[in-house]
Amino acid sequence: MPGECSTSDSPIDAAKIIGYEKEELETIPQESILGVGCGAPIKFANLREGETVVDLGSGAGIDAFLSANKVSKSGKVIGIDMTDEMLEKARANASGNNYGNVEFRKGDIEKNIPVDDGTVDAVISNCVINLTSDKTSAFLEIHRILKNGGRMVISDLVTDKELEQGQINEEQWCSCIDGALTQEHYIESIKNAGFHDVSILDKRVYMEGEKVNGRKITSLVIRAIK
Ligand SMILES: C[S@@+](CC[C@H](N)C(=O)[O-])C[C@H]1O[C@@H](n2cnc3c(N)ncnc32)[C@H](O)[C@@H]1O
Repeated sequence: MPGECSTSDSPIDAAKIIGYEKEELETIPQESILGVGCGAPIKFANLREGETVVDLGSGAGIDAFLSANKVSKSGKVIGIDMTDEMLEKARANASGNNYGNVEFRKGDIEKNIPVDDGTVDAVISNCVINLTSDKTSAFLEIHRILKNGGRMVISDLVTDKELEQGQINEEQWCSCIDGALTQEHYIESIKNAGFHDVSILDKRVYMEGEKVNGRKITSLVIRAIK
């Protein structure tokens, strides 16, 4: 699948390593846990009952289902993914488990998120924006769908050294690594899209050394406000 961010064999173990709580994971469909994220944005999003949440690059639905439990029946969660394979898995997980407040829509987050302007309280995303070739376009789209005062809380990877276009290895791009920006450029892209109060809520070394051409890859959880 596009975007294999994790290196561990068991998806549930991988999810725990990147920050998810065991007890919370037990409350959602187990097939939605792929262990391919790079953090646990849900822990920092402070979701409340009744809120509307969008999960970008929702995969099999892990963060969408955790969000649905938090916003409960009066709230709504929309997962967006560009691959039919992931959408099918996520929809099967939702319908088999009675998640009436979750919907999965097809869309490319870089081009056009299929959600109306100014209608969302919180956008979350786990290890996805790195896979886009134009991060600012993705952040502009996120900004468009958020309400004024709405928040974006995302996990993603940054690097200490960006690669030139010719150095990019397609396989590693798909592993969320070769497309990584520096922390400075990543935050600049967020601010260029119009966000304010950008803060780093969590920061961990994700990979370092030979496997990533001598680069250091760090996983961040970032919050920004519209
Ligand atoms: C690394 S996986 C993460 C999946 C999920 N967030 C999780 O933590 O399990 C990346 C996901 O983003 C989706 N994706 C990648 N680029 C995308 C894009 N431009 N628009 C929408 N979805 C995208 C992939 O299809 C994949 O499901």
